[in-house]
Amino acid sequence: MCGIVGAIAQRNIVPILIEGLSRLEYRGYDSAGIAVLNQQIERVRAVGRVAELERKAQGLSSFIGIGHTRWATHGGVTEQNAHPHVSPTQDNPQIAVVHNGIIENHDEQRDRLTALGYAFHSQTDTEVIAHLVHYYYQQTRDLLQAVKLTISELTGAYAISVIALENPTQMVVARLGCPLLIGLGDGENFVASDVSAVLSATRRVIYLEDGDVASLTSAGVVIYDKTLQVVERKEHLSDVSLASLELGPYNHFMQKEIHEQPRAISDTIEALIDDGAFRTELFGVEAADIFSQIDSVLILAAGTSYYAGLTAKYWLESIARIPTSVEIASEYRYRESVPNPKQLIVTISQSGETLDTMEALKHAQKLGHTHSLAICNVQESAIPRASSLVFYTRAGAEIGVASTKAFTTQLIALFVLAVTLAKERGLLSPAQELAYLSDLRQVTGSVQIALNLEPQIREWAKQFGDKEHALFLGRGVHFPIAMEGALKLKEISYIHAEAYPAGELKHGPLALVDSNMPVVVIAPNDVLLEKVKSNMQEVKARGGQLFVFADADSHFNASEGVHVIRTPRHVGVLSPILHVIPVQLLAYHAALLKGTDVDKPRNLAKSVTVE
Ligand code: M6R
Repeated sequence: MCGIVGAIAQRNIVPILIEGLSRLEYRGYDSAGIAVLNQQIERVRAVGRVAELERKAQGLSSFIGIGHTRWATHGGVTEQNAHPHVSPTQDNPQIAVVHNGIIENHDEQRDRLTALGYAFHSQTDTEVIAHLVHYYYQQTRDLLQAVKLTISELTGAYAISVIALENPTQMVVARLGCPLLIGLGDGENFVASDVSAVLSATRRVIYLEDGDVASLTSAGVVIYDKTLQVVERKEHLSDVSLASLELGPYNHFMQKEIHEQPRAISDTIEALIDDGAFRTELFGVEAADIFSQIDSVLILAAGTSYYAGLTAKYWLESIARIPTSVEIASEYRYRESVPNPKQLIVTISQSGETLDTMEALKHAQKLGHTHSLAICNVQESAIPRASSLVFYTRAGAEIGVASTKAFTTQLIALFVLAVTLAKERGLLSPAQELAYLSDLRQVTGSVQIALNLEPQIREWAKQFGDKEHALFLGRGVHFPIAMEGALKLKEISYIHAEAYPAGELKHGPLALVDSNMPVVVIAPNDVLLEKVKSNMQEVKARGGQLFVFADADSHFNASEGVHVIRTPRHVGVLSPILHVIPVQLLAYHAALLKGTDVDKPRNLAKSVTVE
């Protein structure tokens, strides 16, 4: 969704802004803009790609500026609605603002500012911020004060960066509920909503906390907390690699990220394998204490992360014997649930900034839940920072909107959680612990073997490219994998796909089955295999085309209307991790045939930071 970058330096910062914005493109956006200071505020905006903005910004140069990628919420996709927004007028801008988030009281502020004589030129909520800062700047002649007074009047969520014509050596930034970080350079400083936007200039970053306001010059940064006291925030050295932000030899980030899964998995389990044991401290110093107090688990997440949670329920209940419920974050936060302070709240989020998941966590905490664990792929993001325990997956930056390597590493983290809880609860024999460790060691190789099935899956995809609908079936722990397969296919190829537990077929969806409905079945050798085979007969008898992902032990043979791809290994309890690989590849190749924008599917954003 929206992205912010800003820079103040003793060199031309326009190339830094443009590069930062192009690094933010993966988040999803529909327009972009920059504003820089010279003798006046110069603003360039464009609907569409950053490349178009770059073209329009040729010749522009400055030592201070702000930039933005916009994903429309308030107001359509137009140049007028693109950020930066300025005040008091379009012809004589004295203040320029970029903003991520949503200002909930913007209507009220708009009425008030209109009465004060301000005119509005966009439909955005952001324009009220520009006018408010101008209004208070007129009274204080102090940009920091003007921003502080402005945010005291805003309700909602924001990350903002502001420049003023009269202050060519200062930028003021603030955040509440939306991520914002400061990049520290040598005689230059930066601001961004995502570390990728400043990485080519610096790795030294400070993550602002909710309520913080900061004043940046090229020489230094002063941060104020929500009580407006000067505060020191910890400096971090980002370990996000520039290579993870580049395509390399691949055609799409999704393709690259699917193929990075063996590496992502082995990085995620590295500490565990080095220790040769499931150690509770992997989840944080307080983990032993918290794990000894809990009697159940509640998982909260959205999208693909929710399906990781559904898979984990099977492991947590069968391995750790701990009652587990899994809820869609956006539903949980508005439901009258019965809180249980002994329950461990587990949030799962690749980005760590999904608003629905963040708000669900806050809701649980308001209800009295004190124990929380975040499983997250982005260091220092909002959700882990609000949680008592954290397990960071080490998938590396995930750029494709369709989540792939984040999902498999989330599954690894959740499996490790299940085994660790089993150990804490005295349910794990030393022999079983060694066996699970050995399973984890082998999974990387098995995933690599599954990736080698790509040529066969590419052939299968040809039978999906002209279809409008598809069904995905699975049972038990593989039902969430069927759901993930359906989500992958629909989000990047726009083929309508639904997943059902195979046993439900005869209770309704079987009516949809005919020769035009491809039916994908996840069918490894587990206790439910014979049941799945019976369900497949129900499809076959109605002329349905079956595409079966089996494993080495499933003993399937292809026949008329039954296509089979077998992974050459059976990986037991970790089988969901293996079986998601072919459905990711199937979706990818179907999308290629449909000619969609694989990495940036229509209407979607990478990080969903609005409701
Ligand atoms: O960053 P998160 O894991 O919290 O994101 C949750 C969902 O928005 C995300 O998984 C989404 O469903 C993906 N586009 C699926 O591929």
